[in-house]
Amino acid sequence: MKVGIVGAGMVGSAAGYALALQGTASRIVFVDRSEKLALAQAQDIAHAVPFASATQVDAGGYDALTGAGIVILAAGVSQKPGETRLELLGRNAVVFREVIGAVRAQAPEAILLVATNPVDIMTQISVALSGLPPERVIGSGTILDTARFRSLLGRHLGIAPRSVHAYVLGEHGDSEVLAWTSARVGSVPLMSFAAQIGAPITAEIRDRIDDGVRNAAYTIIDGKGATWYGIGAGLARIVAAIAADEQAVLSVSVMTPEIGAVKDVALSLPRIVGARGAAASLMPDLSPDEATALERSARLLKTTADAVAF
Ligand code: LAC
Repeated sequence: MKVGIVGAGMVGSAAGYALALQGTASRIVFVDRSEKLALAQAQDIAHAVPFASATQVDAGGYDALTGAGIVILAAGVSQKPGETRLELLGRNAVVFREVIGAVRAQAPEAILLVATNPVDIMTQISVALSGLPPERVIGSGTILDTARFRSLLGRHLGIAPRSVHAYVLGEHGDSEVLAWTSARVGSVPLMSFAAQIGAPITAEIRDRIDDGVRNAAYTIIDGKGATWYGIGAGLARIVAAIAADEQAVLSVSVMTPEIGAVKDVALSLPRIVGARGAAASLMPDLSPDEATALERSARLLKTTADAVAF
């Protein structure tokens, strides 16, 4: 499959690097307003390919996206230290007005994979601007937060993160919801498993894990200016599920008809992802507090999205 990446900055290039090393795409094409940057990223990643795959990596204008099955949208500006994702919105909504039209003109069949933050709002904007069915516009959403949640739980329990089935729902941002109630290790409820192995999840541990997930990006941004490896790998995971028609369950951001009293909002739930995009959704069992927090997150996103002129 040919994958386009619009935006050859740190996130776009990290996604391209992950795809090239994994051999997920047969061809990767970088597009950026800086042709020099797009070409440099393509050349640098192409030099890694002989160690791992046979992926062809190029750069070009929007016309180079012709025939792409997926286009990753990573164009825009990233958070400054201390800046929330929602504060980026105005600047990135303007960028997407130009990008979406150009992508659709050259790759009308492509599934759009949105990475630019605030990713939930940018996903909603991309649906409106592209006219595509909602299942073909996927935001990376909380796929990275879910990975962070699973990593921290796995470290506490001494279990591989892939064997921890726990999800982060709602906004990829400060209002996100860690779904503790539905979390499982293997097929065993999380709290029961933790007690069984003598590693109970106390209130203090729960708060530490919540903070480690919810504020991970702020800590990393403070240290190195931005995040890119985690989100790059998350984007590559979504591409792999689409390219292989995997029907994988991934927490990604998609337009959702109803969350409590909130209608038509893009946010993350576990979705079934394959060649048709995010074709179906799952709603985990939630505690009353979790359900309230999810509706609060949906309302924040809906209010913010409705206020954006794009
Ligand atoms: C993060 C960015 C991708 O959470 O929002 O690292």
